[in-house]
Amino acid sequence: MSKREYVVCKVGEMQSGERRIIDCDGRSVGVFFVNGSYYALHNRCPHDAASLCMGPLTGTTEFTTGETFIYKDAGYVLRCGWHGWEFDIRNGQAYVDPKMKAKTFSVVVHDDQVKVQIG
Ligand code: FES
Repeated sequence: MSKREYVVCKVGEMQSGERRIIDCDGRSVGVFFVNGSYYALHNRCPHDAASLCMGPLTGTTEFTTGETFIYKDAGYVLRCGWHGWEFDIRNGQAYVDPKMKAKTFSVVVHDDQVKVQIG
């Protein structure tokens, strides 16, 4: 099955930490540019279908041994606006449940354009 490509922007248009929400033939996709790389996720939370990609892009807090906490993955954690579940934009993995993932898509750069691949 061939993949369809959807233009997001021109290379250099997005600043680090910026996002774009684009329509891919009726499927809403969030595209993020963080530390020189692009990431794309379905704008639909796997928990209860909120617009996941509208949530804040942040880091997460993890409990460690010795009763301390660390703040990690700064800039790569997408927090859903409805119930606060957190997802790693690099692979869609939910932090709360190892079996839960947000749908991700490939992002490619062709001819000075950033494109999402669907299919
Ligand atoms: S709908 Fe996203 S955490 Fe519940």
